[in-house]
Amino acid sequence: MVSKALKELLVRDLRPEDVSAVLKIEKASFTTPWSEILFMNEIFKPRSLPKAAVIGEKVAGYICANYLLDEGHILNVTVHPDFRKQGIASRLVHCVIDLLRAEGCRTIFLEVRISNEAALRMYEKAGFRIISARKAYYTLPLEDAVIMALYPVS
Ligand SMILES: CC(C)(COP(=O)(O)OP(=O)(O)OC[C@H]1O[C@@H](n2cnc3c(N)ncnc32)[C@H](O)[C@@H]1OP(=O)(O)O)[C@@H](O)C(=O)NCCC(=O)NCCS
Repeated sequence: MVSKALKELLVRDLRPEDVSAVLKIEKASFTTPWSEILFMNEIFKPRSLPKAAVIGEKVAGYICANYLLDEGHILNVTVHPDFRKQGIASRLVHCVIDLLRAEGCRTIFLEVRISNEAALRMYEKAGFRIISARKAYYTLPLEDAVIMALYPVS
């Protein structure tokens, strides 16, 4: 069944005026949150696809991705704690997969903390598979990254 949040959800470009709401969600979600400047870079850089999931005026989640030649990279996906488990991250990931495919990407890569069960399951559900790992990739706490890939992008 489609959740109420999903019915009202719109995915659109991330805008500079969204960044203060995004930073609050970042701080609630990560021990090493991205800064304002990192989000602004994504908004203005070529070959970047930063998207917001909004319900009315409220930012419920966001995703940043980019591409080079035929490779895409998902940099982050985050959903406001009040809106999790309703399909919003999946909607964002599928939206970005469609956009990266349209840009000619054949493979999409991402990294995720090895202990991040929610993200691992969500990406697996979207078709990503674990291809390798990076030792001690993350800090606070120090932790390995799992590298996942979606290939072919279909
Ligand atoms: C990971 C995260 C983005 C998932 O967002 P979400 O909108 O709740 O995810 P969805 O509702 O689309 O879930 C899709 C699937 O992921 C899995 N999943 C989501 N949350 C889960 C959880 N807490 N535990 C286990 N599996 C989970 C489930 O398989 C789910 O499918 P189902 O609902 O049919 O069971 C969210 O928990 C979050 O923002 N976490 C903090 C930030 C983060 O870790 N981001 C990822 C790394 S950049």
